[in-house]
Amino acid sequence: MTSMVTLSVTRGTQATGTRVEAFNVPFTEGMSVLDALLWIRANADPTLAIRYSCINANACKECSVMVNGEVTYACTARLSLQGAKVEPLESKTLVRDLVTDILPAKEHLSAVLAPRR
Ligand code: FES
Repeated sequence: MTSMVTLSVTRGTQATGTRVEAFNVPFTEGMSVLDALLWIRANADPTLAIRYSCINANACKECSVMVNGEVTYACTARLSLQGAKVEPLESKTLVRDLVTDILPAKEHLSAVLAPRR
């Protein structure tokens, strides 16, 4: 029998406000938080917004989130049977759900296109 684990995931935008939704995910020993989020998106709610690129290489740094109150990479954070609370980075501007604006200010397109003096 497959064990299930509960992820409490923050959803929403700054405009609509945020809420926490709980998802039960089949647990596999060694799975990452990102594995669970991808399972949710594929099997429970395709509208869940997450950002990632390299999946398990810890190279892109795009999957930064807060897991149980700690800033971490979702692809390297291991899930346990106790489940996890997954939130967007609190120090960054929320885009939607777990996606935040992680670009440094000087890399924003508006900064690049700003008139030069
Ligand atoms: S998905 Fe690339 S570092 Fe996590």
